[in-house]
Amino acid sequence: MEWNILAVGDVVGEGGLDFLERHLRTLRKLHRVGFAVVNGENASGVGITPAQAQAILDAGADVVTLGNHTWNRIQIADFLEECPYILRPANYTARCPGRGFGVYDGPRGLRVGVMSLMGRVELSPHLENPFTTADRLLAEAEADLVLVDFHAEATSEKGAMAWYLDGRVQALWGTHTHVPTADARVMPGGTGFVTDLGMTGPAESVLGMRPEQSINLFLGGVHQRYREAPGPCKLESVLFTVDTETRRCLSAVRVDVRD
Ligand SMILES: [Fe+2]
Repeated sequence: MEWNILAVGDVVGEGGLDFLERHLRTLRKLHRVGFAVVNGENASGVGITPAQAQAILDAGADVVTLGNHTWNRIQIADFLEECPYILRPANYTARCPGRGFGVYDGPRGLRVGVMSLMGRVELSPHLENPFTTADRLLAEAEADLVLVDFHAEATSEKGAMAWYLDGRVQALWGTHTHVPTADARVMPGGTGFVTDLGMTGPAESVLGMRPEQSINLFLGGVHQRYREAPGPCKLESVLFTVDTETRRCLSAVRVDVRD
């Protein structure tokens, strides 16, 4: 059977969360989405609270993934331990709360593994190697299909990961930059891939935040606490269609919504 997975770009602030709540269930129906993964690490601007994580799940996400801002709202730590439907990057060390890989119910009894990984280039050089972490998790995984959110800055690191895991996972998408890339495709080995999903949040902004704050920084000003930009929002995502028999991705197409 053909099974549709929607991967939704980083939810930014209350505006992004509200937009997700208004649109995700409609998108699920419209595109017959069987499974939705939403990156939520910017729901608080930086970080995410338990209430915001629960709101993303209630909005229609099956799994919430995180990234470099996982610990900015440290109250998420207990929720990461308690709730199996939220994942922090698997290549944080084992000293960190929570998990980076989960297995969930898929169609026709198939087990769906979801992996959260984070890049090291220009982001977090102290992390464990995401490539060898993926190897380890795939060797241990009791899953029939595997989906990967690779939260990374460098396009090269994300592209290399796609080639590295091609044929071993059904879909892999990049998150973190908040800028959607136009390269959604199926790799030769059958893995669906896009370098970056983009984001769900304020459209008239710099990565979801007020432009004047970003300009101030680049002019050499003092860093201020980031504030979400006002105005209309957008949702950026990619729909992966997987053949559950051959376990190959058949298509990867952008699904974007604007106010
Ligand atoms: Fe990030």
